Amino acid sequence: VRRSGQSGTILFYSEASDPSWPTELQKAFPTFAVRTRPEDTDPTDVVAAIVWKYPAGMLQQFANLRLIQVLGAGVDHLWSDPCLPKHVPIARLVDPGLTARMTEYVLLHSLALHRRLPELRSAQCKNTWRYLHPRPPADTCVGIMGLGVLGRSCAAALAGIGFNAIGWSRSRKSNMAVQTYIGAADLDEFKRRADIIVLLLPLTSATENLIDSHFLAGVRDGAALINVGRGALIVENALIAALDAGRLRHAVLDVFRTEPLPAEHAFWSHPKITITPHNSSATNPATALGQIVENIRRATAGEKLLHPVDPLIGY
Ligand code: GLV
Repeated sequence: VRRSGQSGTILFYSEASDPSWPTELQKAFPTFAVRTRPEDTDPTDVVAAIVWKYPAGMLQQFANLRLIQVLGAGVDHLWSDPCLPKHVPIARLVDPGLTARMTEYVLLHSLALHRRLPELRSAQCKNTWRYLHPRPPADTCVGIMGLGVLGRSCAAALAGIGFNAIGWSRSRKSNMAVQTYIGAADLDEFKRRADIIVLLLPLTSATENLIDSHFLAGVRDGAALINVGRGALIVENALIAALDAGRLRHAVLDVFRTEPLPAEHAFWSHPKITITPHNSSATNPATALGQIVENIRRATAGEKLLHPVDPLIGY
C-alpha cells in the first residue's frame, strides 16, 4: 500500500542523540507510528526515515520511503551506504540549538587556546608558577575553515568578542562579516594568518585528508587546531608529527575517524591534544522538531524539502 497524507510509519534510528526524540516525534505525529527498530516495522509502511549513523543497507527495504531526514548537520555517513536508495530525497537539519552549542564550543576552546590554558595546565602539573602575560583577543587570528551556517555563526561570535576572525571556504559566500579567503588559491595566505584554525568543513572527497603534512607545513609556527568537522579531514600521523615537532602547539579534537575513539589510540595520552567525545554540539528536539514536521509534510506532498542535500557535491 502506498500511503499518502497523514499516516504510515516513521522510523527513527540514531546511535547517539537526545533520548526524548522518539517520544517527541510520536507527540508531533499522532497519526503515524513512530518506531526505532526496523524489525518492528512493516517495511512497506515506512514513509520517512530519520537517521543518524544507521547500518548500511537498512534503508533499501523501505519501498515506499519518501524522505531520508538526517538528524544532524553532516550527512557524510550516508555515502558509506552502498545501498542508499537513489530516488529518495535527502535533507539535513539546520538546528538553531545545534548552531548555538557549536558556537559556544568554538568560543570556549578559542579562548582557552588564546589564554594558553593547555600550557598553564601542564605547568600546574609540574608545580610550576609560569606567568604568561594575558593578551587581548585582537592579537589572535582565528581562521574558520568552512563557512556554512555553523562556520558563519562562529566567525561572527569570535569577532564579536574581539578576536581577529577570518574565514576560508571552497566557494565565494555573500554577506560575510569577516575577511574571507576562497579556494585552493587563497589557502596558503589563510594559513599564514591564522593562529588558531577551526575545522568546520563537510567531509567530502574534496576535503578528506585535507589536513595532511603538506598543509601542516604551511601553518604559522605554533598555530593551534580545533576540529569540530569530521575526523577524516585530518591525516592522524601528520597531526601527531606536527605537534611533536612544535609546529602546532595544541589540537582540540571532538571528532575522529573511528568513534568512539579506541582506548589504545595515541591521541588519548598526547600532552598536546584535548579530546571531547563528539559532544561539541547535537541536534535538539525543542529546536529541530518543527523542521522535521515540515519536511515530512513536504515530502508526502511531493514538495521541495528544507535544507536538501545534493548527493553530487556531498552535502
Ligand atoms: C554532528 O556531527 C552533525 O553533523 O550534526
